[in-house]
Amino acid sequence: MSVLSLIFFASLPFAAFGAQRRATPESFQLYAYGDGLGGLPMFHADGYAYVGNPSSSNSSNAAEVMFSPGSDNTWFGSPNTTNLGNGTTPNWSNVTLFVPGPGSVDSRVGFLNGTNSSTSNVITSGFVFYGSTAMLLGDDGLETMWTGLAVGNTGVFAIYWNDTSSGQVPISMRRVAPSNPSRRWS
Ligand SMILES: *[C@@H]1O[C@H](CO)[C@@H](O)[C@H](O)[C@H]1NC(C)=O
Ligand SMILES: *[C@@H]1O[C@H](CO)[C@@H](O)[C@H](O)[C@H]1NC(C)=O
Ligand SMILES: *[C@@H]1O[C@H](CO)[C@@H](O)[C@H](O)[C@H]1NC(C)=O
Ligand SMILES: *[C@@H]1O[C@H](CO)[C@@H](O)[C@H](O)[C@H]1NC(C)=O
Ligand SMILES: *[C@@H]1O[C@H](CO)[C@@H](O)[C@H](O)[C@H]1NC(C)=O
Ligand SMILES: *[C@@H]1O[C@H](CO)[C@@H](O)[C@H](O)[C@H]1NC(C)=O
Ligand SMILES: *[C@@H]1O[C@H](CO)[C@@H](O)[C@H](O)[C@H]1NC(C)=O
Ligand SMILES: *[C@@H]1O[C@H](CO)[C@@H](O)[C@H](O)[C@H]1NC(C)=O
Repeated sequence: MSVLSLIFFASLPFAAFGAQRRATPESFQLYAYGDGLGGLPMFHADGYAYVGNPSSSNSSNAAEVMFSPGSDNTWFGSPNTTNLGNGTTPNWSNVTLFVPGPGSVDSRVGFLNGTNSSTSNVITSGFVFYGSTAMLLGDDGLETMWTGLAVGNTGVFAIYWNDTSSGQVPISMRRVAPSNPSRRWS
């Protein structure tokens, strides 16, 4: 078990150890929880995964991601257009979530799209829920190696996998929205 998954399991509330693998819902969003992150929604901009307010992004195609599962536990994303900044027009749909494969130089989490559908050195299948926490069912069992790197002081975090080398903080990705989302940007 890696340091990151140890950190994760050590931080789980006691009751969570009773959590079971759960069927993946037909539609869901992912929210990041961790030190200082109280349930920021995942959004997609220019091929990469972030959490925070998509209207804080400088990308003209940033939007929160609504997921639906495909075969082999592949997760497809489409834009939730509820919370867009002015002038933002997502030009993507049905993008495929990936985490970097072992040995990948780029440790960012992102999305394959029609322009880039190369699956070399990325993992696009095996995403499952354990309780309501998103994990990867890898060769060594369940892995949760999500980390977040603050983008300046924008309140946005870029999402990485199995990488804390630049000061990324470990996070857990859950499908449960924060109880008071209207205050989540404050
Ligand atoms: C598609 O992926 C490429 C490469 O990752 C990225 O540069 C591009 O911005 C993505 N397109 C959209 C619409 O997100
Ligand atoms: C947007 O651009 C500004 C100026 O380049 C930069 O300081 C800021 O970090 C960017 N915001 C995000 C969320 O990338
Ligand atoms: C989507 O818009 C971005 C600019 O924000 C551009 O780089 C990309 O090529 C566009 N993708 C498609 C599929 O139109
Ligand atoms: C879309 O995003 C809004 C704002 O974040 C949220 O309230 C709503 O539940 C989301 N819609 C779906 C279908 O997930
Ligand atoms: C969008 O534009 C309106 C009118 O100019 C402004 O009141 C609002 O704050 C803007 N919203 C964002 C997210 O920039
Ligand atoms: C999304 O793309 C996958 C292949 O990448 C395809 O199998 C699936 O049918 C597509 N879903 C929709 C709703 O277009
Ligand atoms: C995580 O990163 C470490 C160090 O780079 C590497 O040895 C290990 O194989 C990686 N684990 C996974 C599951 O990618
Ligand atoms: C496609 O995305 C993967 C993962 O980020 C990246 O390694 C690869 O270089 C990209 N290919 C192109 C053509 O952008």
